[in-house]
Amino acid sequence: MSDTLAVVNCSQLVTLGGAARPRKGREMRDLGIITDGAMFVRDTRIESVGVRSEIERLIDGDCEVVDAGGRIVLPGFVDAHTHPVFMGTRAEEFEQRAEGATYAEIAEAGGGIRSTVRQTRAAHEDELVAAGKRYAQWFLRTGTTTVEAKSGYGLSVEDELKMLRAIRRLNERTPLQYVPTFLGAHEVPDEYRGARRVEYVELVINEMLPRVKEEDLAEYCDVFCEEKVFSCEESKRILLAAREHDLGLRIHADQLSLGGGAQLAAELKTTTADHLEHTDADGIKHLARAGVQPVLLPGSVYALGHTRYPAAREMIDAGLAVVLATDFNPGSSPTPSMPMILSLASTHMKMTPAEGLTAATINAAYSLGRGHDRGSLEAGKRADFVIYDADDYRELAYFFGIEHAFAVYTNGRLAYRRDDKLEDEISA
Ligand code: NIG
Ligand code: FE
Repeated sequence: MSDTLAVVNCSQLVTLGGAARPRKGREMRDLGIITDGAMFVRDTRIESVGVRSEIERLIDGDCEVVDAGGRIVLPGFVDAHTHPVFMGTRAEEFEQRAEGATYAEIAEAGGGIRSTVRQTRAAHEDELVAAGKRYAQWFLRTGTTTVEAKSGYGLSVEDELKMLRAIRRLNERTPLQYVPTFLGAHEVPDEYRGARRVEYVELVINEMLPRVKEEDLAEYCDVFCEEKVFSCEESKRILLAAREHDLGLRIHADQLSLGGGAQLAAELKTTTADHLEHTDADGIKHLARAGVQPVLLPGSVYALGHTRYPAAREMIDAGLAVVLATDFNPGSSPTPSMPMILSLASTHMKMTPAEGLTAATINAAYSLGRGHDRGSLEAGKRADFVIYDADDYRELAYFFGIEHAFAVYTNGRLAYRRDDKLEDEISA
């Protein structure tokens, strides 16, 4: 197999290149597009990008040449907030919500996260890996090449470790790249509810975190900070303990109600604060001062049938390096599709298509400590790129509900290719 590869004939090579830091304010609109662009890859890394004539000079006899056919080429999406390992689905609850029940009511009654916990606990690690492989394919075929992956459906020491080990195996065995996050504080499990809830917080801090660290199973720790789940005080204790173990910090904040989560994120200088549907001007000010990256998840607003989307425009105007992610999970956001998220971001949050792409690639990569390594098409970065069946980058958000990806590469290797023979036959 040749160790060099040239991608030529790209109507737009959307590089997202620029300064080596997250993009803020007007910078989010600058995509570094090279018209009639091309790219040269050696082994797993990008060696150079430029106009076609420049790159063609580098091609020798051994080089594999990929003709993009006048399509657009972008860096793979970096999905910085997902829950991609779980057993079963919640299609039944989806039906109940269609009939009028709310997400909060279903959770109160013992469903929601706790119903996925029961099924995930009953599953063997191998079954979680098998289910996860299917979802890995779904991510890849929509153009995502890296996902952040949370635990949080185990909620016991052994079941949380089982989930994180499954994530590690998925990272080793699929072309999708995973960044693991420990989310033991996703919900209070059935056996600790009521008078024993403080014991659960102790369990997370004193038993789960040390084991996660011992086995080196996570890079980040996350907490679901919400009125009926973990209070700001409990969230703070858990996150401070995680910091002692050298984990980076993320937080589910202000998703279902305004509860001080954004201010807590700012106080702790967490890497990200995620959701933020209810965050107000004061919360935004705090996040901006502390340099916390907001991770916005419009898929969960849409799928829960809510109407309150996070205030993306105000956040961009305040100079925050906004990130977009799917929140893929079996309850509030059962979609792995970043293009769907881009559509929601432009339609409901008034982010321009360019801002959306920045939020879904380079800014997302920085939010996972990987901005130096991926998220843009620049010399030295990982060759994670996607050829889309589109003439212009805006079409990724504009045509929605379809799969745009034509071919997906991770680490310089083909990971997915659309069956175009079949399509040719149909359109002939
Ligand atoms: O980000 N908010 C908490 N966690 C997920 C929902 C998980 C679930 O419903 O299973 C979220 O929306
Ligand atoms: Fe989430």
